[in-house]
Amino acid sequence: MAELGVNIDHVATVRQARRTYEPDPVWAAALAELGGADGITVHLREDRRHINDRDLRILRETVTVKLNLEMACEDDVAAIACRTRPDQATLVPEKREEVTTEGGLDVHEQRKRVADVIQRLQDAGIVVSLFLDPDPKQIETAAELKADAVELHTGQYALALPGAAQQNELESLISAGALVRQAGIALHAGHGLTYRNVKPVATIEGMHELNIGHSIIARAIMVGLEQAVREMKRLVS
Ligand code: PXP
Repeated sequence: MAELGVNIDHVATVRQARRTYEPDPVWAAALAELGGADGITVHLREDRRHINDRDLRILRETVTVKLNLEMACEDDVAAIACRTRPDQATLVPEKREEVTTEGGLDVHEQRKRVADVIQRLQDAGIVVSLFLDPDPKQIETAAELKADAVELHTGQYALALPGAAQQNELESLISAGALVRQAGIALHAGHGLTYRNVKPVATIEGMHELNIGHSIIARAIMVGLEQAVREMKRLVS
């Protein structure tokens, strides 16, 4: 059975839209735990567009399930990770101009830099996961670099039209998943997963962890809006 890591970046995105104190991702993490989340995932981006240093610091103190920090392969954020000690760090590519993470990390091309950051994080007792496209060359390199986990990028699967195209993407994920397991690495997946498309990925053999953000936060707005309006209506009338 796959574990669910809930990505709460979007809660911080709404807060940052007004540069105010609400909604607080720390509070959201507690609610996600109450809902059964097995992990809380946050991405501390270089531009701090959503999650910031204060969030990470408090989350480290309050989250009681796995705290997974998504981060670029950069020295400054590696230093923050080594100080804060999340349970797990997921290394992702990061471009300032992107709306969200686009594609997996190219560990084959950036082997030396990735190896250094993996070593620093593992020396600090942090489990290291690599966010990779379902590409055998990348998975082979992840095994050589002694990554603890590989998170397969499910973005292409999520974008594919239902039918043959989606099935093709699913098959790539299934074969990449088999390579990850054969290498003795924990199998994770995420990006673009929704209530409609998650099941075939969750049932890939050996799937250990799924990280899901946008769809859960989008649904939370829809299931919570009616109550929120009722509460405000009571106050104004
Ligand atoms: N996994 C990784 C590595 C990501 O970068 C993201 C997006 O921050 C997710 C999972 C979650 O993606 P989504 O918000 O589309 O569910």
